[in-house]
Amino acid sequence: MAKRVLVLNGPNLNLLGTREPDIYGTHTLKDVEALCKKAASTLGLSIDFRQSNHEGELVTWIQDARKTADAILINPAAYSHTSLAIQDALKAVALPVAEVHLSNIHQREAVRHHSYVSAVAFGVICGFGVTGYTMALTALAEKLN
Ligand code: DQA
Repeated sequence: MAKRVLVLNGPNLNLLGTREPDIYGTHTLKDVEALCKKAASTLGLSIDFRQSNHEGELVTWIQDARKTADAILINPAAYSHTSLAIQDALKAVALPVAEVHLSNIHQREAVRHHSYVSAVAFGVICGFGVTGYTMALTALAEKLN
């Protein structure tokens, strides 16, 4: 059976395409979903692609992943830099986690240099735009097989 990856996107990523395109590019979240689905089918993965602007909803989805996923790919967006709750949820489910950021967070404001999620991720990809998602799926497929 195909391994299942829960792909989570945090706040404001629903605005991709129009949101600060000089930083985040012009692809929409729908484009990212299509890209992930294409990569997943090549890699023999099944994906469940979601976005939320609410920290608690992301925490609940992470908790639910204990029963429904084999790994998690997450772009926590601004919650990367603030959310101990998301870090705790990821620790609790104990699934392999890949963290993705479209922009190079280390090249930006100091407040973006630290991510609470990185401490519980087996790998972090940032600065490669939407390609980061396919890179992370490739790494997860390798990890799961
Ligand atoms: C982001 C980087 C975060 O600092 C920011 O808050 C985002 C998106 C990225 O994909 O580059 O919303 O996670």
